[in-house]
Amino acid sequence: MIHYENHWAVVTGASSGLGRGFAARLADRGMSLVLTGRSEGRLKEAANQIRRAALQIQVETVAADLSTPSGVSALLDHVRDRPIEVLINNAGFGSYGPFAETDPAREAEEVAVDVSAVVALAHALLPGMIARGSGGILNVASTIAFQPAPYQAVYGASKAFVLSFSQALWAEACGAGVAVTALCPGPTRTGFVDALGVDVGHTAIYRQLGDPEPVIEAGLRALDKGRAVVIAGLSNKLLAESSRLAPRELLTLMTARLLGPANSASKPPIVVRNEILIHAAPERVWDLLTDVERWPLWYRACRWVRVSVAPIQTFPHQRWGKGPTPAPSASLGKQLPLWYQACKWVRRSVAPIPAFPHRRWGKECMTGGGALRGGPAFPQQSSGNECREQALPEATHGAGRGTAFQWKAHPVTLQSTVTAADPPRTFAFVADTPGIHAERTFMLRPAPAGVGTVVVSYETQVGFLARLGRLYLGRRLYAANQAMFADLARAAEHSGVMEAIPAAG
Ligand SMILES: NC(=O)c1ccc[n+]([C@@H]2O[C@H](COP(=O)([O-])OP(=O)(O)OC[C@H]3O[C@@H](n4cnc5c(N)ncnc54)[C@H](OP(=O)(O)O)[C@@H]3O)[C@@H](O)[C@H]2O)c1
Repeated sequence: MIHYENHWAVVTGASSGLGRGFAARLADRGMSLVLTGRSEGRLKEAANQIRRAALQIQVETVAADLSTPSGVSALLDHVRDRPIEVLINNAGFGSYGPFAETDPAREAEEVAVDVSAVVALAHALLPGMIARGSGGILNVASTIAFQPAPYQAVYGASKAFVLSFSQALWAEACGAGVAVTALCPGPTRTGFVDALGVDVGHTAIYRQLGDPEPVIEAGLRALDKGRAVVIAGLSNKLLAESSRLAPRELLTLMTARLLGPANSASKPPIVVRNEILIHAAPERVWDLLTDVERWPLWYRACRWVRVSVAPIQTFPHQRWGKGPTPAPSASLGKQLPLWYQACKWVRRSVAPIPAFPHRRWGKECMTGGGALRGGPAFPQQSSGNECREQALPEATHGAGRGTAFQWKAHPVTLQSTVTAADPPRTFAFVADTPGIHAERTFMLRPAPAGVGTVVVSYETQVGFLARLGRLYLGRRLYAANQAMFADLARAAEHSGVMEAIPAAG
């Protein structure tokens, strides 16, 4: 229950923007006001305007810098013996830019105003409200509070604090008849964007700003109703609510996209290029390249891997789990024990792949033998990765027609087919899945100095989904590619006759 008429309210950041609007609306409800902000001139101007519109109320101003303890004390001293019915914790500002390049002093000030002052004022005024059994605190958070905010890391974290803090106070105080509400506005046309100190008009988030009036109305309405959180605006609400379901990494990267410099949107979706020099003839290098048994890091970096020389047909719909099925052969666990233990499930078959599974995430390695010996043998495992070994058809030797590579990188499955297999010179394949088109080429070419072979791996992905998934998928593909080349370098060194010099592209 909040008593407005003939009661006092404190509004911080009342010299402009939302704070000034809150002050005017509370005056309309008959509240006397203590307004605060740093700028004495703008505060007085706001106070005079309110007095002219609402003659019966009192309006006082306290010019104070809330980033300092003395500023907070000055405000609290001013209201010490007065019962404050409503506190609008609104003062705040943000900063913009990569965290490493932002001014530490400014960000410390930001935390002091956006977080410390909010806590200090609530601490000072909430006990009186609880004792009287009435009152309300409206803390102005932001929609940025619902996810980490790259390029506004400190501001986003501050507002996340305000959101969490307000909800906790709401639960503690609602039984005592005191409302605590976090108001979460989206980008709004106030002095806020100018106060950032840099032009953010190029970012997707700040390109369009909403009107302040609906935000103010939503905040006061939610306070009246005793709501813990209110998100101003339907689209902001949808965005904030949907963020709860998204994987955290993806959410953060998407936010980086929205808050980041606009030119990042014009980059090609995904391009991964890597290069390595191996002191060996191309034929030897080709053997290494196609021997995926030697790629443990790559295996770990990939969600799953399958190599087969058989034509791919269909898999039964099946979830492969770790079960007690005894494994017929025993080298995988020895060769890749950590990987094997880390896998949710592993399945191996040397039979032609009969069908595609409707897959859950996992790693699979299938091999048809021959030059593409991918599926290392499995150990007998009591932890029970499932193993299957079926009757072998005679495998085609070499990466020729019919050879298929597949891999999966979250969140899409790529089905790749070798389109050009001209060992030992080139090895290219395309991958297609709805919305994604990927092309990958391994090229082996003589080293510039005439000794050894340079292996180049070049992968591009284009298409609508790739553009959407670039932030997440791109990193995974890059990591997988790096891992593969690290494996290749190690395999070359372990083979005894070759020296490998990684040259990351
Ligand atoms: N506008 C948006 O897009 C948006 C979106 C989400 C959340 N918010 C939040 O909404 C609140 C109000 O901001 P606004 O949009 O109304 O921006 P604004 O027009 O820039 O108002 C900010 C207010 O905070 C005061 N303030 C800033 N630093 C202060 C300090 N060190 N000590 C005391 N007062 C200080 C300013 O007063 P002086 O300049 O006189 O000190 C001003 O009155 C802020 O907490 C902001 O984070 C804004």
